[in-house]
Amino acid sequence: MESVLVLDFGGQYNQLIARRVREAQVFCEVKPCTVSLDEIRRGNYSGIIFTGGPASVYAKDAPRAAEGLFDLGIPVLGICYGAQYTAYTLGGVVSPAAKREFGRTEITVHPSLLFEGVPKDTLCWMSHGDQITKLPEGFIVSAESPVCPVAAMENPERKIYCVQFHPEVMHTPEGSKMIHNFLTRVCGCKGEWKMSSFVEDTVEALKKKIGDKKVLCALSGGVDSSVAAVLVHRAVGKQLTCIFVDHGLLRKNEGDEVEEVFRNQFDINLVRVNAEDRFLSKLAGVTDPERKRKIIGEEFIRVFEEEAKKIGAVDFLVQGTIYPDVIESGPGNAAVIKSHHNVGGLPDHVDFKELVEPLRVLFKDEVRKAGTELGIPDNLVWRQPFPGPGLAIRVIGDLTKEKLDILRDADAIFREEVANAGLDRKINQYFAALTNMRSVGVMGDGRTYDYAVALRAVETTDFMTADWAQIPYPVLEKISNRIINEVRHVNRVLYDITSKPPATIEYE
Ligand code: XMP
Repeated sequence: MESVLVLDFGGQYNQLIARRVREAQVFCEVKPCTVSLDEIRRGNYSGIIFTGGPASVYAKDAPRAAEGLFDLGIPVLGICYGAQYTAYTLGGVVSPAAKREFGRTEITVHPSLLFEGVPKDTLCWMSHGDQITKLPEGFIVSAESPVCPVAAMENPERKIYCVQFHPEVMHTPEGSKMIHNFLTRVCGCKGEWKMSSFVEDTVEALKKKIGDKKVLCALSGGVDSSVAAVLVHRAVGKQLTCIFVDHGLLRKNEGDEVEEVFRNQFDINLVRVNAEDRFLSKLAGVTDPERKRKIIGEEFIRVFEEEAKKIGAVDFLVQGTIYPDVIESGPGNAAVIKSHHNVGGLPDHVDFKELVEPLRVLFKDEVRKAGTELGIPDNLVWRQPFPGPGLAIRVIGDLTKEKLDILRDADAIFREEVANAGLDRKINQYFAALTNMRSVGVMGDGRTYDYAVALRAVETTDFMTADWAQIPYPVLEKISNRIINEVRHVNRVLYDITSKPPATIEYE
């Protein structure tokens, strides 16, 4: 399979570069710049893209690639630091610019394979202090800006192309075209990376790997574990058993929906453990959010282990690790998923020999595409992120079944109306929370003293920062009316207009 290497020099947009390459239907891997020449040779790459990075090429510990890389004859696209590094390594000169260039910049491009189909004057996103001031031998300038005489340079004979700007970000409107040009016109890639072939190839590989052995999977109902489970099931059918621990902290009807899809639609061996009572008794009276998380994480593992024990020794355990987890956990490490994002890590006492991670090379949106390809219904494939501890961290303070039920009903109405308004794919995460506050109200002729529900809806790409979503007033009005009228013990609905930071997305 054709593939491209994204060589990581520490830039902040590295995953974005990889995303752009995949969008051009070319498979790619991100590796640290220190990867050895041998490993690069073995990768049989059609091209290498150098990312940006914060260093200056003259710094003592400036990141460098393996010596001899430029002699391999593999086409190279250097971006920002990657461009400077190329210039410097091949005998050019890089100097601090008189003026730091940051932001949208107009450049003029010259005829080049990289800029085919790009208007002569075009916008790009610059972010650099140093710049190339003398070209290495054999290179020509292929783009310039008023402050940056070498906005791009190239040596077409050696198939080395460099851009000082960032083609991977949205602020470079023609950037995707440039990356596409590099991949197809310079590297000669055909663009054969498709979800349908990923699914086929992965199923074949899983069949080979698993043979007639037994596989176990912890199903959470989230996108990643669902897609991983269905993939493995397609490969080995009933050799796979999924354990779905229902901790009673799921949203309205969610447990049944998961069961319906996996048991009835896919006919997967499913063990659903209804452990609501067990979790609620462990959580009784606990108000501290981190304690709640810890209890739920530990209990989850215990329940899973107990069920796994009933099944006996298995050969493989499925994990829904995806590519960003792999990249973030660094070179050579097995994927360590942030504890925040995984209910409680890997079980210690489950008897298995090897992990199966069929989604290890996919980005989130590719996981969704694979899910659709496998016939998993939209409501599961497009499920918004849902925290492992579930509604426990959306009921502020101590938990009771009554509070959880109130929250479930309010949350279901909120989600239904967001979908009715066509906002469900625009708003990245939205849910109701039960504040621990009760207040006075009046309903009919009577005084009430009931709960206040908070609505939270955010727009974000990375969930590290987020803006509160500007849901139109008429939609909010409808949601509020319905919650007050349909959910007992709620007499007030509040809309949260705090961004992150300073608030977090969840309430606990
Ligand atoms: P915060 O509240 O930190 O949330 O702004 C950021 C994202 O992480 C999710 N989240 C969790 N996910 N276990 C999880 O699996 C947790 O304990 C947890 N806490 C927060 C949250 O839903 C949001 O998407």
